Amino acid sequence: FTQPRIAPSILSADFMNMERDIRVIEEGGAGFVHVDVMDGHFVPNLTLGVPFVKQLKRITDLPLDVHLMISNPLNQLPWFLEHEPAIVSVHAEALDEPTGEFDRAIDMIHEAGAKACLALKPDMRASVVEPYINKLDMVLVMSVYPGFSGQKYIEGTEKKVARVVEIARAAQASPLIEVDGGLGANDATRAVAAAGADVFVAGNAVFGAADRAAAIAAMVQTADE
Ligand code: DX5
Ligand code: ZN
Repeated sequence: FTQPRIAPSILSADFMNMERDIRVIEEGGAGFVHVDVMDGHFVPNLTLGVPFVKQLKRITDLPLDVHLMISNPLNQLPWFLEHEPAIVSVHAEALDEPTGEFDRAIDMIHEAGAKACLALKPDMRASVVEPYINKLDMVLVMSVYPGFSGQKYIEGTEKKVARVVEIARAAQASPLIEVDGGLGANDATRAVAAAGADVFVAGNAVFGAADRAAAIAAMVQTADE
């Protein structure tokens, strides 16, 4: 993965016309399909699960970027990994670091041949990724409190992105940095791109637009500015 990538979140797509919506973002140049898995426990909302990922895999060759907003991700990981996601993000807040759960989750994802990402809620400090930075393929910096699409970007998130970039540089690591929440062809995307983000999630900004391909192109351009 090299150039800035847009990862449309299918949580904002039309569930009754999923295949049509996927084709539009494929043709529009999406880099990934971002799949928001929520369990109604780790976050208030309840969304998609393993059967959805399985069926999505049958209709698209776009790499799946599976964002697990669930408690006890270690229990669920094997089920998701069976369906060959390209990247799986687990939340730092959902894992018990002292007992080695960060390592266990990352290793489990790697053993299945997927890329491993650690996700951070807005209140989590950037330095939590430091001991793992050399084995992470991506760090996901949340720019809203996870749970719902269509929220407003939390100002200052770009500072946390810059901090992750610093931590990675210091360790000579180069994980991708993904930002999720409130992004579009807007100042938020400009700010996080300037701070070093590589992957830009967008729910509302893509699927809420009349022309989804144009919305993706506008975001790529905004990130490149
Ligand atoms: C937030 C999810 C996001 C969200 C993005 O809980 O993890 O992926 O759906 O939606 P927008 O881009 O509308 O903020
Ligand atoms: Zn997400």
